[in-house]
Amino acid sequence: MNTYLVLANTVIINKKNRLISYGDSLKLIGTGRSAFVFRIKSSNKAIKIFFPEFTYIAKEEAGIYKTLQNISYYPSIHDLGSNYIVMDYIEGLTLFECMTHGKLITSAHIKEIDHALSLAVAEGLNPSDIHLRNIFITSNGEIKIIDVARFRQRKHCRQWHDLKKAYYQLYRKRFFPKRITALHLNTVAILYKKGLLPSYRINRIP
Ligand SMILES: Nc1ncnc2c1ncn2[C@@H]1O[C@H](COP(=O)(O)OP(=O)(O)O)[C@@H](O)[C@H]1O
Ligand SMILES: [Mg+2]
Repeated sequence: MNTYLVLANTVIINKKNRLISYGDSLKLIGTGRSAFVFRIKSSNKAIKIFFPEFTYIAKEEAGIYKTLQNISYYPSIHDLGSNYIVMDYIEGLTLFECMTHGKLITSAHIKEIDHALSLAVAEGLNPSDIHLRNIFITSNGEIKIIDVARFRQRKHCRQWHDLKKAYYQLYRKRFFPKRITALHLNTVAILYKKGLLPSYRINRIP
């Protein structure tokens, strides 16, 4: 049997999307809204195991990563199974972690993220769900973008546009704290999603 499949089969997730157990060869590195992500120990690969109700996303996300395979800003994909994908492990911090750790995000980083997204557009994709937890600054200072499952959706996603606006209007200002607690950041994210930040309403007409 394929080794990745053996590893995937060690992960037990219940119907309430609670992680019950996983094999010793895996280290939990992230939890999203659709999956748990593990580093495969002593390797540079990560395995994303989708919650039972979201297993159909594995194929969609793998297909999109294949479209992006020649663009270094996106991890390469190594295997696809019925409920998992295997990709490069990214050593670094998400923008969310940069903010909670106080690692400075520069305007050069923002421009590079824009460039990475424009390369996906050039491949006919529509970058969506671009938020702080889906963008990394690696230990070498490179940008990596993950969680591309919604890049084929038709609907326009404003999140990156709004994040950039907040970056230039707030974060860059001298008074703005460069280190923020996860609780504060999560609260802002909830208010944003609920449309309670007047100039950052997700559903407003542009
Ligand atoms: N290839 C990777 N390397 C390192 N960490 C990752 C990788 N993929 C995902 N993660 C971590 O796992 C979290 C959840 O992964 P993600 O693909 O965004 O799941 P979801 O689709 O459920 O949002 C990410 O925010 C990140 O912290
Ligand atoms: Mg995500």
